[in-house]
Amino acid sequence: MHFFVITILSAFSVRASTEICRFVCPSSAAGEELLDESLSDSGAATGCFWFGGPTGGGLAPRSASYDSNGDLIPFSESSNNEGLVRADTFCAGVTDGWDFAQHQVCIKDSVSARILEQDTVMPLPSNSPETCTAACDSQGFTFAGVEFGAECHCGTGFTATIQPVPHVQCNMRCTGNSSEVCGAGDLIQVFQGPNPPRAAQLPTGWSTFSDAPCAQDSAARMFTDTLIAGPLLAGTDTPAACVQFCEGKGFTKAGVEGGDECYCGTEIRAAPQALDPSQCNLPCQGAIGVKCGGDFAIQLYELS
Ligand SMILES: *[C@@H]1O[C@H](CO)[C@@H](O)[C@H](O)[C@H]1NC(C)=O
Repeated sequence: MHFFVITILSAFSVRASTEICRFVCPSSAAGEELLDESLSDSGAATGCFWFGGPTGGGLAPRSASYDSNGDLIPFSESSNNEGLVRADTFCAGVTDGWDFAQHQVCIKDSVSARILEQDTVMPLPSNSPETCTAACDSQGFTFAGVEFGAECHCGTGFTATIQPVPHVQCNMRCTGNSSEVCGAGDLIQVFQGPNPPRAAQLPTGWSTFSDAPCAQDSAARMFTDTLIAGPLLAGTDTPAACVQFCEGKGFTKAGVEGGDECYCGTEIRAAPQALDPSQCNLPCQGAIGVKCGGDFAIQLYELS
């Protein structure tokens, strides 16, 4: 029995775990409850709004923001600043390399329209950010989310623009660690890990064109024998989908450009001129978090 338990644990221990924290608004200020919270990319709570509280509505609303060290930047009306304190920290134990997705700690989800793309529920008897990120990591997913205490969701991206809510709303204890929170009803804490997005994973034998992963294209087009598949792939455009399409048509080279264009070919017109990778910066129409070239900048793939 002892060995059995060890085996299960080791299956989820590919990487060590670490604790990640970021600054959030204090859940109360001068007895008033946190009603609104915005968190910035720099790790600071940039907008906090408190109102009401146990003594009723007689108190003035309070608002503040915090710098990247968690120190108070008081609201300019000094009468409102009484009772304001340093930022709180919100922490989670996660698998090494994982972090809060888009720097947010608690976001809206819905049973009828999942926020995680290819939402896959992992059956974990002991759910926590730590066990959930480990499980999703080992299955090759890029995103992991804990919800409703017991639920672990894995995903490949977001299906829509995320809607953060104040961290205090993610208040259900994790079934696998009662000192941590795991979302709430229709509220999820999402983490992002180092696995490459699935939409960017190419079919076997294909790789990025090593001399010029992002190359200058022109109206004359990169390939001498071009087939454009953009309309055929509408809504699912990703490098992987484009490569699959081109392979299916017998081509040995493929390229994505302009966010939603897919080109297939066998012959390159002239040695591709490499561009800085930052020029291939347009998000793919078919996947959040994956790039599909730029303006006359093409990402090239070939079958070896
Ligand atoms: C539970 O969570 C706390 C706080 O993040 C952490 O210190 C502790 O190691 C966790 N316990 C287990 C068993 O993972």
